[in-house]
Amino acid sequence: MTRAASGADWWRDAVIYQIYPRSFADGDGDGVGDLAGVRSRLPYLASLGVDALWFTPWYASPLADGGYDVADYRAIDPAFGDLAAAEELIAEAAALGIRTIVDVVPNHVSDRHVWFQEALAAGPGSPERERFWFRPGRGEHGELPPTDWVSSFSGGTWTRTTNPDGTPGEWYLHLFAPQQPDLNWNHPDVWEEHEAVLRFWFDRGVAGIRIDSATMPVKDPAFPEVAEAEGHPFVDRDEVHEIYRRWRAVADSYEEPRVLIGEVWLADQRRFARYLRPDEMHTAFNFDFMTRPWSAAALRGSIESTLDAHRPVGAPATWVLANHDVTRPVTRYGREDSSFGFEARRFGIPTDLARGTRRARAAALLTGALPGSLYVYQGDELGLPEVEDLPREVLQDPMFFRSDGVDPGRDGCRVPLPWTESGSAFGFSPRGTGPAPWLPQPTGWGAYSVERQETDPGSMLHLYRALVALRPRGTEFGWLDLGRDVLAFHRGAGFTCVVNLGSTPVPLPPHTEVLLASEPVRDGLLSPDAAAWLRA
Ligand code: NOJ
Repeated sequence: MTRAASGADWWRDAVIYQIYPRSFADGDGDGVGDLAGVRSRLPYLASLGVDALWFTPWYASPLADGGYDVADYRAIDPAFGDLAAAEELIAEAAALGIRTIVDVVPNHVSDRHVWFQEALAAGPGSPERERFWFRPGRGEHGELPPTDWVSSFSGGTWTRTTNPDGTPGEWYLHLFAPQQPDLNWNHPDVWEEHEAVLRFWFDRGVAGIRIDSATMPVKDPAFPEVAEAEGHPFVDRDEVHEIYRRWRAVADSYEEPRVLIGEVWLADQRRFARYLRPDEMHTAFNFDFMTRPWSAAALRGSIESTLDAHRPVGAPATWVLANHDVTRPVTRYGREDSSFGFEARRFGIPTDLARGTRRARAAALLTGALPGSLYVYQGDELGLPEVEDLPREVLQDPMFFRSDGVDPGRDGCRVPLPWTESGSAFGFSPRGTGPAPWLPQPTGWGAYSVERQETDPGSMLHLYRALVALRPRGTEFGWLDLGRDVLAFHRGAGFTCVVNLGSTPVPLPPHTEVLLASEPVRDGLLSPDAAAWLRA
């Protein structure tokens, strides 16, 4: 291993780069990103200095939800490559000191998964249906869904089936899109299959898993309405922890223990920390920080409550500015309301990209300096904005369709990356006359390209590369008081981070050197919406 921390605790302060394979790099020229594309860009990822790559699902999938509808966990989607290509990619990355993390989706599978196809064919009352949640409808003719639960993707959570003789049949549960039937975690096959899938990938050298919708797999089998339930009928039920205890035992059975990383959306930080008990997950995404607006009080409050919640369980915090589900930081931080919430997503919210970019640079330094692990979503190191004017006919996200077009959905943060200043698809696809990228890139995309930014020492790319190289490790942390609008803290004796969230320049505290700054520091003053790392 070269750069990546070695040893069992590598994940405690790792930098993990998130790859959305469809949009990272297209190796075969069909307009869709693939594993060959990622392999061709491994030198770039190594030059960023990241410790690990997290791949959003690369498995065989009809892509009804960007791959979170998995049809076969043991196969790579043909659009991305094949299993041999994945094995080679894992090995090539490892040779560069980069670990691989894959996505596991315990809550649901694709409606094309063999289990669901068998369940539909076998009909009501069959053992095949027991792996899912099939229920008769309410109402005289079963015409009403079993509950009125609301899906995270808008609309209801049940879809009615049709019996082989053409009559209306049972309903099945899907907390997300209808193409994503929920699994029944009371069924032993569901447990066994997931453990086998974990081993399948761990045996291939995968260093860990990112666990999708990790609070949701267990349901209250009485199916109460949300308002009438004790606790919540499908979010954060106590029984869900047993899944992760079992998975932890699998992960710990490897010579280099594998790592469990949870997608845990919970407002209550104490409930959140329960997922990080020593025999469960290693870390979970810190969405509380990600949703906060650009305000010193709001961010300080989140940092404090995050560190406080993690301390008792001994788990490191994670710092996340974005992922494939949320608005790109430069766009969000340029808005009047710079918080993030799914329910607030709309078309046409004005933004000031110059201001948003300054803040995103400062936010990168802030999160890069905090104790714990850091996640970088592909393209944020280039400062890509959310593409908010994609033609409606190219949109693919079920969040857009199921909200009747009110929610713009998540396609705008999934537009293929620009690698070169000009040329076909800005270097996303190889030169030639192949199909256009699966989502169109804006005309000015080349200005954000890796090629352009490599030559500009002031670029976002150079900032990210430097911050990954210079970021402090370890757990020391303490606040410094530089006023209400300033976030300042030290990471041990020699390192101080200062972030100015106010509207006037602030004097930097005594230092011997400015290690890195998001804007030029003049006369010892830090401009508004800027951050600096100081050698104290
Ligand atoms: C969370 C994933 O990040 C998101 O992309 C997906 O749509 C849902 N889980 C459902 O799998």
